Amino acid sequence: MEKIVIEGGARLIGDVTISGSKNSALPVLAATILCQGPNSFHNVPKLRDVATIQRVLENLGVQVTRETDGSVRVDSSGLSGNEAPYDLVKTMRASVLVLGPLLARRGKAIVSLPGGCAIGARPVNLHLRGLEILGARIELKHGYIYAKADRLKGGHIYLDVPTVTGTENLMMAATLARGTTVIENAAQEPEVAELGTVLKKMGAKISGEGTSLLQIEGVETLHGVEHSIMPDRIEVGTFMVAAGLTQGNLRLFNCSLSSLEAVVNKLREAGLEVYPDGEVVRVIGNNRVRSVDVKTLPYPGFPTDMQAQIMVLMCLTRGLSVISETVFENRFIHVSELRRMGADIKIESNSAIVTGVRQLSGAQVMATDLRASASLVLAGLAANGRTEISRVYHLDRGYENLEGKLSRIGARIRRVG
Ligand code: EPZ
Repeated sequence: MEKIVIEGGARLIGDVTISGSKNSALPVLAATILCQGPNSFHNVPKLRDVATIQRVLENLGVQVTRETDGSVRVDSSGLSGNEAPYDLVKTMRASVLVLGPLLARRGKAIVSLPGGCAIGARPVNLHLRGLEILGARIELKHGYIYAKADRLKGGHIYLDVPTVTGTENLMMAATLARGTTVIENAAQEPEVAELGTVLKKMGAKISGEGTSLLQIEGVETLHGVEHSIMPDRIEVGTFMVAAGLTQGNLRLFNCSLSSLEAVVNKLREAGLEVYPDGEVVRVIGNNRVRSVDVKTLPYPGFPTDMQAQIMVLMCLTRGLSVISETVFENRFIHVSELRRMGADIKIESNSAIVTGVRQLSGAQVMATDLRASASLVLAGLAANGRTEISRVYHLDRGYENLEGKLSRIGARIRRVG
């Protein structure tokens, strides 16, 4: 079983090139089901989750090829299937993103119901409720969603929670519906906005992408496009915390500070220097990290996908910080592993009370989900001694060659086994 081994204590100095966004690439690739003709995407990260959505699409008869220049060519003119099977969906919940496009393009979709995951129950009831408002007939049986619609029709959807993939699924479904759809309390994440941009390039009529009020006027057909996926803002945030934990000095390439306001504000409040430096983003850590309180919220609030990472930084302050998780009901699993490294963290309902300690110590720890595994890598970088992280397949789902990028800036990190 592969492990990541880290000898802690090295200062991180140098340049990092940020990869394309996982949470933008997945819905954009799913959207190719909607259009006639080939697409070409650049800056698509090489990740396990991208490989999974590729297999989901190929299973439907879509051709997906990674070209020699690294771009991804997707041609859905051979689309013939309706099913996203359990074996694929169980490895990645985001596979549910083919539900809306399949229903819109083929009038029928059979998608395995995503089960719960480490960080929460994560139901898809709002996806299904929205599709029913657009005229779909939905049945749940044998662990699958069976959805049918001769042609979807425009409708008015109010989302109880601004669900990210829910908004994306419904926005995609509405592009080929008859009439106009309004989605209220829509998710405003930059990845949702980028999907809107790509759909508009494909010929869709959308307004309000990236705001809480979306309007989509259905069209008859969509066509293929060429597009470059935005940088991964969570990867940017993860490297910023790495600089903060190691008194580092990093230049981050292929990214910008836009869409990271909440994270950058908190890191500056904690004492890090973060600023645009010509074409790159500069982040400088120092040895007086201040404790700050954090509350995760839907965008533009502080992203839940950065909660575990900033918690590690708060473990090494001289104060006390309260980190409240309001998006997922069970996203503190990394706490017990951080405690094994000497962190002082108490959990009270949806808040973690972190009392800073002088030093973390290296230990054998286990990754439990994608962002938890990133937090253990960060803790290992700062810790005294050797850290061994098992179940690193979680990391590969969302970080492209993390240990390669870290070792190039001075980290003593390697993958074994
Ligand atoms: C997306 O997940 C991201 N995944 C997650 O990133 C991210 O943590 C999350 O948004 C929140 O920002 C992708 O984009 C592929 P939600 P998603 O639906 O869409 C509840 C990572 O680390 N809810 O916005 O699944 C739900 O239970 C991953 O990269 C319902 O109740 O999240 C949760 O409490 C992890 N019913 C809240 O809404 C629904 O039908 C937000 O979930 C849908 C959601």
